[in-house]
Amino acid sequence: MSNNILSTLVVGLCVLAIFYIIKRVRNRKYNEPPLVYYKYPIIGHTWEYCADVDKFLSKCRQEYGEIFSIYIYGSVITVVGKELSHEVFNSKDASFSTAFEDKVPVARILGLPLDYLNFAAEITKNVFIEQMHLFLVKTQQSLCRDIDEIIGECDEPKIIQNIRQVLFMIVSRTVTNILVGDKLSHDKDLVNIFMNFSNELYKLLRVPEYLGFIHPWLFQQSLILRFRFGGQEVKKLQKIVIEKIKPNIEERIKQERKCGDDWKPPVDCIQFLLNQPNVDKENIDYVWISGQLLAITFASMSTTVTSINNFLLDYASRPEYWNSLFEEQEKINPNNDKIMNLDQLSKMEKLDSFLKESFRLSGNVFSLIHRIIGPELKFSNGYQLQKGSHVGIYLKNVHHNDENYGPDSNEFDGCRHLGKNSPASKVSRDFLQFGMGRHACPGRNFAINEIKMVTSILIKKYKITTATKSGKRPSNFVISGVAFPNPEPLIFEKRVEI
Ligand code: HEM
Repeated sequence: MSNNILSTLVVGLCVLAIFYIIKRVRNRKYNEPPLVYYKYPIIGHTWEYCADVDKFLSKCRQEYGEIFSIYIYGSVITVVGKELSHEVFNSKDASFSTAFEDKVPVARILGLPLDYLNFAAEITKNVFIEQMHLFLVKTQQSLCRDIDEIIGECDEPKIIQNIRQVLFMIVSRTVTNILVGDKLSHDKDLVNIFMNFSNELYKLLRVPEYLGFIHPWLFQQSLILRFRFGGQEVKKLQKIVIEKIKPNIEERIKQERKCGDDWKPPVDCIQFLLNQPNVDKENIDYVWISGQLLAITFASMSTTVTSINNFLLDYASRPEYWNSLFEEQEKINPNNDKIMNLDQLSKMEKLDSFLKESFRLSGNVFSLIHRIIGPELKFSNGYQLQKGSHVGIYLKNVHHNDENYGPDSNEFDGCRHLGKNSPASKVSRDFLQFGMGRHACPGRNFAINEIKMVTSILIKKYKITTATKSGKRPSNFVISGVAFPNPEPLIFEKRVEI
């Protein structure tokens, strides 16, 4: 028995050593960026990286400069900062979506093509963005109703312990409407499925990649298994989604046949999917439709919820901005109409600047990993990355850059972006919250408008404070370079006129 264990251990260690050697061999043909020195094989920099990614990368940058490679979770990954990150985003040889699938394997979980994000981008552009004017009224109606229902009047101060969950409930109802239309958006089960699925995918970003020490494939399989057998068993969820959407889709097809050109189809993602040229209306592929709807929940819900959560933490702990943000609301919407138009939303410049500052200082240190999918990525300074390598963006270096944001770049200044023709939705080399280049987030204008709608209601309706004694902004948590909003409760109280 003990001999068996011993031999298994020896074989295991040999396999590890072989992987290690294979991974360490550097291709001499390529002028690769310097690999930061490390003492312990296999572990590499993982320990320092996990302990304090910010401190670790800042130390590496001081020593190695703009571009260097580190060895974490059994893989080498290159780090680029403010000078070279745009070259990654603009290169057709580097892909964010391919690397993202390794961390959040949506395509594999839902059985979609690996390039599903390209199609998600089409859905976003054609439905969320192009038809945004049509969603304005119902989105604001639904937000007002849900905020009244879920947060309430708050005549007495109300402590909301799980603000993320509350925001999810508010945002998911409006997004579900755009996904499946008016009728189905009232179906609570459907709203909950989309909301929970989006949240579960988001949680994958927090899973440490320890299995990557053995092989990245194992890490990915462990994530997929959560959705095959865990609480979010995807087959069951998809079955329920199909049960819900099938009668609605059959009714649409019936109406289309009956009324022909006179039929006015609903404007939503289901209809966009049905209108695709390859869709056979005699034989609808419901698994594909439900998969596409579930896939877009991650991009459209959890990112927005995280941003509103960060905004509220920043707002609640900075009372010096409350009056000016409220006055802006009064100026733009003097009659306090429940429905505002796109022009009014775009005039909320103070809110926009505050939001952009909240994005900029959200605490992300290192993320937006890309995989090299072309033959190589050659940087302007001569360094090369070969096909299959990974490169990530040192976001803190970009967003806390004194040259662009001034000597107080680490400080929160809610008016920093005012009058600079630099709205929160504008992507640039210095502001990468929405990425940049060919694949920059196609949903950013929708997201910003939705966040403005939600926060405008909250600013007008409540006094919002943190439950911390100091009143200071509770810091976000950084896991593997990505920031997660501090789960500190927030206190909502009816706003009284001063
Ligand atoms: C505040 C909220 C949001 C943030 C911070 C955010 C951020 C991002 C980032 C960083 C990327 C990668 C960009 C790149 O590769 O250069 C991205 C891609 C994407 N986002 Fe967003 N996003 C948000 C909201 C949304 C919404 C509301 C939608 C849809 C309605 C959406 C749809 C997408 C899609 C489809 C992609 C993939 C684009 C492609 O690969 O071509 N996002 N987003």
